[in-house]
Amino acid sequence: MKIAVINGTPVRGVTYHMKELFLSHMGSGNEIIEFYPKDFPQFCMGCKNCFLRGEEKCPHISEVDPIWQAMLDADLLVFAYPVYALRAPASIKSVLDHLCVHWTVHRPDPIMFQKKAVIITNSVGAPNGSAQKDVRTSMAWMGVSKIYTCGAPMMGDIFLDKMSQKHLDMLAKKAKACADRVSAAGPVRRKSLKVRLIFAFCKWQHSMVLKGEESPSLDNAHYIRHGWIRARSQA
Ligand SMILES: Cc1cc2nc3c(=O)[nH]c(=O)nc-3n(C[C@H](O)[C@H](O)[C@H](O)COP(=O)(O)O)c2cc1C
Repeated sequence: MKIAVINGTPVRGVTYHMKELFLSHMGSGNEIIEFYPKDFPQFCMGCKNCFLRGEEKCPHISEVDPIWQAMLDADLLVFAYPVYALRAPASIKSVLDHLCVHWTVHRPDPIMFQKKAVIITNSVGAPNGSAQKDVRTSMAWMGVSKIYTCGAPMMGDIFLDKMSQKHLDMLAKKAKACADRVSAAGPVRRKSLKVRLIFAFCKWQHSMVLKGEESPSLDNAHYIRHGWIRARSQA
């Protein structure tokens, strides 16, 4: 299996430990490519080139493209990050912002419909759900149907080298349970209801927008090229 890992922190701490445990339980022989914040793009500048002129016109394309290509190539996407201010850290959000152009509402890649994603998080004590939702939302809007989460509020135990055995055992158990769920799930054969609803809405929306366009936008040209909506001459 090909696995692309987006690590939201450079620290070899709790997040890294959880991710390594998870990967170890995914078995041997996997082809794993990893990205760290040093590989990430600067914050999105808001130029909107990606939407209007093409994603290759992004000023940060040299950082964004290797990540995106690895995601397209992977069977499994893994996001591993600590909770910061109750949400995903800015490093992760910066990557996600640069991938908005691939949301279903813009120019989704149909290969994303076949992917699974795993979100691994930890916090000093806060619930992890809101931080996981940042990635979960992006993944769903990119067409990923199966999204698994593994979160660990550490109850104050934040340094790996000082961690109690009880918490180390808890992390090991959670990582294994998550890996077992992902392994047992098998390939994605069908879009989830959520992804189907999003896609149906986007197809309708694009066909409506197309009616008012003299020539199709990049988004609509993408939808036409994939046969998801019909060009005006065909309609
Ligand atoms: C800037 C910053 C913000 C944080 N915000 C929260 C928070 O809102 N809630 C929480 O429970 N923990 C918070 N934490 C704690 C981290 O989630 C926690 O220390 C985590 O174990 C760090 O993982 P690491 O060892 O991989 O760095 C924050 C830590 C940092 C550095």
